[in-house]
Amino acid sequence: MLKTKRKNKLELTEENFNRLLPEYLQRASKIYFTPIHIARIAAQWLTEGRRNCVLDIGAGVGKFCITGAINSNDFFCGIEYRPSLAGLANDLISHFKIKNAVVQNGNVTEVDFANFDAFYFYNPFYENLEFAKQLNNEVKLAGELYGNYSTITRNKLEMTKTGTRLVTYHGNNFEIPESFQKIKETEDRFLKLWVRK
Ligand SMILES: C[S@@+](CC[C@H](N)C(=O)[O-])C[C@H]1O[C@@H](n2cnc3c(N)ncnc32)[C@H](O)[C@@H]1O
Repeated sequence: MLKTKRKNKLELTEENFNRLLPEYLQRASKIYFTPIHIARIAAQWLTEGRRNCVLDIGAGVGKFCITGAINSNDFFCGIEYRPSLAGLANDLISHFKIKNAVVQNGNVTEVDFANFDAFYFYNPFYENLEFAKQLNNEVKLAGELYGNYSTITRNKLEMTKTGTRLVTYHGNNFEIPESFQKIKETEDRFLKLWVRK
């Protein structure tokens, strides 16, 4: 049974989240999915001070969206190109009885960024540079896709409105346009908040 903190507020832990995943994803979870304590900070940075619609670019099994949705009234949407992960994410969203999150199956290249005012980005395209670490074989990986997806994402971010927030976790910041200013970061510098000037 999942513990409840107070009425309708789930206490999400690594343990109660991970045990809902198939075994191969439990093993991959540490590398591929944002730790819950980090997801909480990221969601808070993305939503503080106003009502938001947040997009997780490469949402995996929805761990960031679920954590954010449980901890706020903002809306968390994910885009995930692996059908099995998007399906599992929505099963988990239903399992936790969450109303303010959804994960769509598709490629980020097809998403209209104008529908969102905040974005979360955990190094989704890196897998194309390190095949050995691929999550599963549902999608085609190729070195040139890293550059293609990164460039398309950077161009889409460049078109967003002033005040748009972006939180990045790890990565080399290649996808971040110069119009985004770094506002703060965690002490280890892995998590960063950027705001569109
Ligand atoms: C490092 S995982 C992060 C998952 C999730 N954001 C989290 O923090 O828990 C990156 C995810 O991005 C997905 N992904 C990679 N390229 C994508 C693309 N072009 N469009 C949609 N999803 C993509 C991968 O399938 C993977 O599930």
